Amino acid sequence: MDRAPLGPLEVSRICLGAMFFGSKTPAEESHRLLDRFVAAGGTFVDTADVYDAGGSERTLAPWLSAHRDEVVIATKIRWLNGLAPDEIRKGCDASLKRMGIDEIDLYQLHGPDPDVPLEETLEALDGLVRAGKVRALGASNFPAWLLAWAVATQDREGWAPFVSLQPQYSLVERTAEIELLPFCRAAGLGVIPWGPLGAGFLTGKYERDSPPPAGSRMADASDDLEEAMHRRAIERNFRVVDEARAIAQERGATIPQVALAWLLATPGVTAPIVGARTLEQLEDLLPAAELTLTEDEYARLASHAPPPETYPQRMLIEQSGLPDRISLPLRRAR
Ligand SMILES: NC(=O)c1ccc[n+]([C@@H]2O[C@H](COP(=O)([O-])OP(=O)(O)OC[C@H]3O[C@@H](n4cnc5c(N)ncnc54)[C@H](OP(=O)(O)O)[C@@H]3O)[C@@H](O)[C@H]2O)c1
Repeated sequence: MDRAPLGPLEVSRICLGAMFFGSKTPAEESHRLLDRFVAAGGTFVDTADVYDAGGSERTLAPWLSAHRDEVVIATKIRWLNGLAPDEIRKGCDASLKRMGIDEIDLYQLHGPDPDVPLEETLEALDGLVRAGKVRALGASNFPAWLLAWAVATQDREGWAPFVSLQPQYSLVERTAEIELLPFCRAAGLGVIPWGPLGAGFLTGKYERDSPPPAGSRMADASDDLEEAMHRRAIERNFRVVDEARAIAQERGATIPQVALAWLLATPGVTAPIVGARTLEQLEDLLPAAELTLTEDEYARLASHAPPPETYPQRMLIEQSGLPDRISLPLRRAR
């Protein structure tokens, strides 16, 4: 499996998501997934304090005690106690303790906290890096303006910078292409998409006019979730699956492999975070790392569910002839 730089880190181009470790994926199966992932060349694992209220991080601990040097560990903070400086310091210590490690490789804000001044949060994160508890910082679920503001503040204050963004991004959720991806490319942040299969929609298991399979992510999703039926099970998304199925048949691959290969071919994407729930699902996903799409296949997949049209991008493209990916190089590459 190829690797890519991520700030001071080097990571495999597929990241293993641990959201269900210790819950939907029992501990022993989770450890089998980790073994298989590492055997396939994977070196990048993503978790969060909030997953199963610490259960995911705790499930990683016994495996990490034997394999710490083989993986880059990313975790997150936000949804348990917010982003006040004291909560960040306590939250980091709690994550370290739960995982039984002495340094987090990538510590990410799981989302913004409107109750805490951003500067206070960023200064506290800088303190964690200086204290040697964290190697690098990332953000997740930030709107582009706030991410740009945060990055500029870190630059101005000389604080440890965000090296990555973790946005939702897949063939069926491409809003990130409008602002987030161009900003990350211009400012030199890596992008590690969550939900790369649209929570399983891009596997072909959901069908038009049929109820979702019992126990599946969409069957269990409440209306406010990103993978809620009313958002995901729409005609244009089914057309993406049809296209991915056709390409999969032509290439002797599977639908999710094609969907992941599309992300891997998208400029600026460092490593999609795959959410395999079982070993069988992981086995199905891993060959994506070796699948290179042609330009024509890439364009066919991209044609069905483009990102929404927004101003000023639409005006700049239509009236001023700017390229459809407006990505101006910044003076100072980070
Ligand atoms: N930053 C954030 O806010 C955020 C949010 C969500 C996730 N994440 C991270 O991103 C990771 C992945 O997110 P995600 O789980 O939404 O990603 P995903 O890869 O889009 O969806 C994973 C789901 O797809 C289905 N699936 C996966 N491989 C399959 C296969 N080969 N065949 C059939 N179905 C398959 C499974 O659904 P079934 O369970 O229905 O079988 C699984 O739960 C998480 O583990 C977490 O680390 C971050």
